[in-house]
Amino acid sequence: MNQPTTTQPSTTAWIRDELQQLREAGLYTNIRTIESPMDAWVTIDGRRVLNFCANNYLGLANHKRIRKAARKAIKKYGVGPGAVRTIAGTMSLHDELEQRLAEFKRAEACITFQSGFTANLGTIPALVGREDVIFSDELNHASIIDGCRLSRARVVRYAHNDVDDLRRQIAATTDYGRRLIVTDGVFSMDGDIAPLDRIADVAEEHAILLMVDDAHGEGVLGEGGRGIVDHFGLHGRVDVEVGTLSKAFGVVGGMVCGKQVIVEWLRQRGRPFLFSSAMTVPDVAANIEAVDILEDSTELVDRLWRNADLFRSGLQQMGFDTGHSQTPIVPVMLGEAPLAQIFSRRLFEEGVFAMAIGYPTVPQGKARIRVMNSAAHSTSDIEQALEVFGEVGRELEVIRD
Ligand SMILES: Cc1ncc(COP(=O)(O)O)c(C=O)c1O
Repeated sequence: MNQPTTTQPSTTAWIRDELQQLREAGLYTNIRTIESPMDAWVTIDGRRVLNFCANNYLGLANHKRIRKAARKAIKKYGVGPGAVRTIAGTMSLHDELEQRLAEFKRAEACITFQSGFTANLGTIPALVGREDVIFSDELNHASIIDGCRLSRARVVRYAHNDVDDLRRQIAATTDYGRRLIVTDGVFSMDGDIAPLDRIADVAEEHAILLMVDDAHGEGVLGEGGRGIVDHFGLHGRVDVEVGTLSKAFGVVGGMVCGKQVIVEWLRQRGRPFLFSSAMTVPDVAANIEAVDILEDSTELVDRLWRNADLFRSGLQQMGFDTGHSQTPIVPVMLGEAPLAQIFSRRLFEEGVFAMAIGYPTVPQGKARIRVMNSAAHSTSDIEQALEVFGEVGRELEVIRD
């Protein structure tokens, strides 16, 4: 076999260069490995640290009822679904989960996907195509952006949460087939909430389909965590409510709730539903148990909000800039990516795990530490973390005494 000679250009040299550039710009993501269950405290590199960066909003990821439900289902049904949903992968558990989610969300119907990401990839191209137009908030999540690209529809971005700009963009866009407005519910890097009530007015005035991705509102916003549509009392007025089971629900999976006819259509045309195997048995059973827990009591959701308010106000009192946070996602705005990386490293050395987020996840110059609050934290966990933020903030001259 011919070996490549040293004079031939390497086909992967450019990747090495790009990786090096990421390191130099402070944008290289160092992936930390968790050696313990996902909880308020986790073990990393053999050390127990306070966890402020998981999406485990309600502490369900390692909840004993969820673990028990998964074990019980494995005993009864095994693990793998063995097929895609439309061939032989739909088990009675999948139907039960969808029914329970629709009831919980007070929606007409629900379809589940393997993740929130695939829910967006499946839904958007099923609703719009080459002749159509999508109005998309400029800060929408990557999975919405990719879903929009896959659809081949024209994408018109409107200024973040700016309903007047949305109106302007709609008025300026005249050549279209079908139209879709899409927005995150809670913006994942800023923790602010889309003005969905006013967006729904615009959608109705112009007869445009409306879709919200409520990944960070599920289990967080609305009565007992029923999500953004419930938060604004918009039942029946939002056509498509995408959500995830991978965050507050503590498991993994995606869902789309909304009108019966749309859900039926997604069962025929949502490509990850048709062409990628179904969610596994323990995941589905664990998600059903998560719905049970949410329906039983609002205690975890209430505790989550109390914890988040305590953390946010504590940071603000010390002089940190927490951006536009209105939810348990609290960014600590730092500006340049290298500062955010050093900040995160120092937090970790002092026993607090909170990730630095830089470009391309957030715009250049808007690097931050993203604090994720959880009902799993105790008040003393929060006080301890705030103390560490204060020490590191003063040391790196982000705040003053
Ligand atoms: C707004 C938004 N949509 C979708 C997703 C993807 O969800 P999942 O992790 O279930 O794929 C995320 C996760 O980061 C998200 O923040």
